[in-house]
Amino acid sequence: MQHLEFALADAQTQRPSPWSDIELVHCALPELALDDVHLGVTALGAQLAAPVVIAGMTGGHPRAEELNRRLARAAQRHGVAMGVGSQRAALERPELAATYSVAREAAPDTVLIANLGIGQVLQAGPDAERMLRACVEMIDADAIAVHLNATEEVVQPEGDHDFAGATAALAAAARALHPLPVIAKETGSGLAPGVVDRLVEAGMSALDVGGRGGTSFAAIEGARAAQIGDDVRARLGDLLADWGIPTPVTTATAARGGVPVIAAGGVRTGVDAAKALALGATMVGVGQPVLQAAVEDPHGAERWLEGFLFELRATMFLTGSCDVAALRRAPRVVLGATRQWLDQLEAAEGR
Ligand SMILES: Cc1cc2nc3c(=O)[nH]c(=O)nc-3n(C[C@H](O)[C@H](O)[C@H](O)COP(=O)(O)O)c2cc1C
Repeated sequence: MQHLEFALADAQTQRPSPWSDIELVHCALPELALDDVHLGVTALGAQLAAPVVIAGMTGGHPRAEELNRRLARAAQRHGVAMGVGSQRAALERPELAATYSVAREAAPDTVLIANLGIGQVLQAGPDAERMLRACVEMIDADAIAVHLNATEEVVQPEGDHDFAGATAALAAAARALHPLPVIAKETGSGLAPGVVDRLVEAGMSALDVGGRGGTSFAAIEGARAAQIGDDVRARLGDLLADWGIPTPVTTATAARGGVPVIAAGGVRTGVDAAKALALGATMVGVGQPVLQAAVEDPHGAERWLEGFLFELRATMFLTGSCDVAALRRAPRVVLGATRQWLDQLEAAEGR
């Protein structure tokens, strides 16, 4: 719960939005009608009405039940996917399961993504498969995301600081749960090209790149540490608030990995979403703004998504893209720091 309050307060990265480095090229002759733009995609084995995931954020406390209901209603109405927050709380206290399973009640037809941290998977050892299956069954999920949150854990006062064996644990999870899609999901620091290669090799069905540019877990944990007077971790949280690979960079490089990519981290508008899709993402993930809208009003998330999808449709129209596949071929210009990141990463990887 505390995380939610800090995330809704000012726990965003400080630098300007990295999406301003990406320009889509205007098409004065789109040769299609706005209403003919088709937002649908096939992803995670299902057909979605739009290439969007409401990112996994909440569950595990009384207020979360209503928020998950509101988010799930929005997902159902707009035909987009939705994740729940880490289900660790309900594995430890089964009476909390309803705060997650409410999502399936409110969204009977859309793609739902279960969620557990790599830390729990590692600690569970041979019991990991049972735990992951319990998360999936709890919400009747179509896929499960294992979140990678080293940046958060290293700042967190009660953090888990041992990620040794993580790649092998993910590979074992993918094998055990096959054919259920297992998604590796960063949470704000991005996936470097070498990490993408290891995750693809480990059998991940999709990658949520969770890059830098939006919600900052270092900032959230730093603020929590400050509140309990842990000055060392509060300072580390401040220092690392902008740590990581910017979302457009990690999206463009991960898209070469050969598995579907979810671009998340600072996607704030439908124009940002169009840019992410043009860089090769299959879907975009949105977190803080849709949660904020859900907190403010029972129908806030539904309305927020309506605006977001209209912006995406308008941007696709202005690039002459009749669908997401066409948008991925649309011309784009990459400027500034993003260009430098891409050039230097490419040089370093010898790609
Ligand atoms: C309040 C809050 C709680 C979150 N909890 C989780 C979580 O439990 N598991 C997870 O994988 N990601 C979690 N995330 C990260 C989101 O899934 C997503 O990666 C991120 O919010 C996307 O960036 P954005 O907020 O800038 O749109 C959380 C994000 C927020 C804002």
